[in-house]
Amino acid sequence: MKIFAILMLLLAGAASANETYKPSTLPGYQLAVNSCTRCHSAQFAEMQSPSTPRAEWEATVKKMRKFGAQVSDEDVLAIAEYLAQAYGAEKPKP
Ligand code: HEC
Repeated sequence: MKIFAILMLLLAGAASANETYKPSTLPGYQLAVNSCTRCHSAQFAEMQSPSTPRAEWEATVKKMRKFGAQVSDEDVLAIAEYLAQAYGAEKPKP
């Protein structure tokens, strides 16, 4: 029984480690952490194509509002900027 509990904890830890939003100094990062983690992890953002442009992220965030995400018009733009840079077409080249 005990070993099973430990295993579950390890699995949960490993899963959440790569599903949190990538830290950034952009204001959209904190907004995403606050508004976008209620229903699902950052995994859905990670699954999007790295060439996804900012306008498409904006459309996605607006779609999330239809699902029930609480994001103001201003914050939609900030989150889209963050997502485009962290996961999309505006990713800085190494
Ligand atoms: C109220 C619940 C809820 C919140 C809050 C939420 N999402 Fe979602 N999200 C969903 C659901 C449900 C789906 C899957 C539905 C689908 O297939 O479109 C989804 C899917 C996605 C996808 C996959 C692509 C797509 O278009 O389906 C991305 C990317 C995403 N969410 C990003 C975000 C971001 C960024 C935020 C914060 C602004 C956010 N989500 C907040 C419910 C939510």
